[in-house]
Amino acid sequence: MQNPKRYLITAALPYANGLKHVGHLAGAYIPADIYARYLRAQLRDVVFVCGSDEHGTAIPIQARKEGTTAQAIIDKYHEAMRQDFGDLSIEFDIYHRTSDPLHHETAAAFFQQLEQAGELETKETEQFFDPEAQTFLADRFIKGTCPSCKSDRAFGDQCESCGRSLSPDELINPLSTLSGATPILKKTTHWYLPLGKHEAFLREWILEQHKQDWRPTVVGQCKGWIEGGLQSRAVTRDLDWGVKVPLPQADGKVLYVWFDAPIGYISATKQWAIDNGKDWEPYWKDADTQLVHFIGKDNIVFHCIIFPVMLKLGGYILPDNVPSNEFLNLEGDKMSTSRNWKLDMRDYINDFVKAENGGGQAVDMLRYYLTQIAPETKDSEFTWKGFQDAVNNELVAVLGNFVNRSWVLMHKLCKGKVPPYHAAKADEYDKALIEQIRVATESITAHLEKYQFRDALFTVIDLARHGNQYMQRKEPWIIAKRLETEPDAQQSIDNCLHLCLQLTANLTILVNPFLPNTTKTLCQMMKVVDRMLEWKNAGRIDLLKVGYSLREPQLLFRKIEDTEIATQLEKLKKNMMSNEIPPAPITTQAELPAAKPTIQFDDFAKIELKVGTIVAAEKVEKADKLLKLSVDLGTETRTIVSGIALHYSPEEIIGKQVSVVTNLAPRKMRGIESNGMILMAEDASGKLHFVNPQSPVEPGSGIS
Ligand code: MF3
Ligand code: ZN
Repeated sequence: MQNPKRYLITAALPYANGLKHVGHLAGAYIPADIYARYLRAQLRDVVFVCGSDEHGTAIPIQARKEGTTAQAIIDKYHEAMRQDFGDLSIEFDIYHRTSDPLHHETAAAFFQQLEQAGELETKETEQFFDPEAQTFLADRFIKGTCPSCKSDRAFGDQCESCGRSLSPDELINPLSTLSGATPILKKTTHWYLPLGKHEAFLREWILEQHKQDWRPTVVGQCKGWIEGGLQSRAVTRDLDWGVKVPLPQADGKVLYVWFDAPIGYISATKQWAIDNGKDWEPYWKDADTQLVHFIGKDNIVFHCIIFPVMLKLGGYILPDNVPSNEFLNLEGDKMSTSRNWKLDMRDYINDFVKAENGGGQAVDMLRYYLTQIAPETKDSEFTWKGFQDAVNNELVAVLGNFVNRSWVLMHKLCKGKVPPYHAAKADEYDKALIEQIRVATESITAHLEKYQFRDALFTVIDLARHGNQYMQRKEPWIIAKRLETEPDAQQSIDNCLHLCLQLTANLTILVNPFLPNTTKTLCQMMKVVDRMLEWKNAGRIDLLKVGYSLREPQLLFRKIEDTEIATQLEKLKKNMMSNEIPPAPITTQAELPAAKPTIQFDDFAKIELKVGTIVAAEKVEKADKLLKLSVDLGTETRTIVSGIALHYSPEEIIGKQVSVVTNLAPRKMRGIESNGMILMAEDASGKLHFVNPQSPVEPGSGIS
């Protein structure tokens, strides 16, 4: 858009069902933050909104996993995510939440407006219903085989293997994840957004108007959707967690999470306006507002097709761009929460930011690396070695080194002050450097305007590299040796350090959107105020006044040692390993809901239960959840592998009595055959307790 009057920047609202990893950070939050910081430095009118996405079935599912309520889950993760973003210098103007009453009102009103305008259809359909749990099944609660890739890790909304989005009726062999029952079809009425009616608009708007300026993958995905035929999408669900459908006949129904969540951007803006005495409406309704959604690629259809249709119908502006990123892999494998192959923002914060020598420096090191490898056009990869190389070879060796050399030499050869620039003495190197500053500034600005953050950052570092080369060619420390015989030589030294200092001031401005903490340190060293950071100052070589005395240099970045990355790699493997073991029966049960279908006595009678006494216990190698137990059952001693190692040490359980399922089919775990299963009770905090008789009984006593 040409000269927008104001900007509204959004970053995908993260689900409040767990901590977020660096893939999320690189995909949406860092690029959005860079862009917002850049616009602020341009003194543009910008609001950067985000918040927690607290609806959808992800939340009750997590609550069940953690043995708590949905409300407790969102409170916990909303706060944790807010904190983590803050710790990594992601500076939202507001971090809101969709459980807020203001959001419920806003989303309900949005629905009502579309409903009253006749833009929604209702349909009575047959939906999957769990006959045992007596409830309609949300898409996520149905599991089955993917019609595309035939993986059995497919859910009613999406296949976890190939990523294809699905509807439950496409699944082969659907099963309820609540009870394991085969769901039956039952009639229910829902409201639909008829996307097909808007095909012409979408074609024109995306495939024509934005075919050049949107990322090819984004346009490509949209094209696929449009050509695949736009189906009506249900915007309501039979669920008891979410924004209630504001119609009397819709009791027990809520808005589909993907209907309400993007409206969260609007509610967040409203809350920001209330907090700051502003008017929210121009940001969403005036044509001269530039709206930009930063998201990961799994969110494209919602932000480019469904939400825009809603926005258009509601009389709102449309996004100007949706810079979506591809995925970030980790050490050669897809990042995954379920397999625990990931680096959580929180883990980095604990290990680097909060650790000694950490702070802003460590934050910027991560921001740097994640921007350098940002998956802007294709999937990319986080490796600890890559992180170490980026920090040591670029931040330390190029940027840090250039600044440090400039400062040390300025203190040594120019009395700690900004030396004058003697234009008459300027040589071709000086002139070339001045030109490089100008050209780099233009190029960085152009890249930022086009959401090319990788290239922008590359150009910033390249400019610092030019600074090092320049100093290497000028060699002021050599010239200094000639000072006694050649008094003119000081002018040459002055010119070199004058330009190095002006270049540092430029780098301070240019690096600010990416590495805001580094910029702060540099400002302290130069004793300059924030006003210098205005973007329009970049490219100037008179930012520091001649004769101005500067502080001592500070260390901008420390090196990352081999041992640190070895520790991280070790940790990663360990996490995954502890997750990889065939989950012990107790863990599986924790994931299942409390309510199971009624069984007959005969079913129960099939299970043989006995009291046993643990006579020996040892850790299972390379499996930190497992213990290998020898259990005395009176007539025999059995080997049983149990997933209790995180709760009990081998020593403390010897002699304990336990309840054992003795007729369970043998099962191999980590190469050890387990003959039976120990019953454990799990409390709300996830701690496991033995289930045993009130006072000791003979080993082998039956339980019934
Ligand atoms: N919670 C979604 C996710 O993590 C993103 C929601 S973005 C919004 O994939 F637009 F709906 F808010
Ligand atoms: Zn699949």
